Amino acid sequence: AIPFRRYHEKVIEYYENPKNAGSFDKNDKSVGTGIVGAPACGDVMKLQIKVKDGKIQEAVFKTFGCASAIASSSYATEWITGLTLDEAINLKNTDIAKYLQLPPIKLHCSMLAEDAVKAAVRDFQKKDEKK
Ligand code: FES
Ligand code: FES
Repeated sequence: AIPFRRYHEKVIEYYENPKNAGSFDKNDKSVGTGIVGAPACGDVMKLQIKVKDGKIQEAVFKTFGCASAIASSSYATEWITGLTLDEAINLKNTDIAKYLQLPPIKLHCSMLAEDAVKAAVRDFQKKDEKK
């Protein structure tokens, strides 16, 4: 475990008061679901988007993992809300890590959030093609 004091206050803030925690019905046609896992530590992140007219109306997450992963996913949901799908997949883990001031050993936590966003967008697009 990482000593508490190594976390930046932004991580603590999101950890204690995560924004957009929750989940949507994955069978809803307007919902895209991304579930990704980190082989390094076994943490799992689920991120879902609700899309309307090509834009992300709402995004939620459920993360079974460390404080940095929770903070990264919460920040990612905030960041992508209101964006088009193309804009959303431009979210880089390095931007998340910079904002949350993650130390190098926690970079994979922000990577998980980037991957979860991309997986959610892909899932929605797959469903959309079938319509
Ligand atoms: Fe401890 Fe990820 S390694 S929660
Ligand atoms: Fe693995 Fe954070 S330690 S996601």
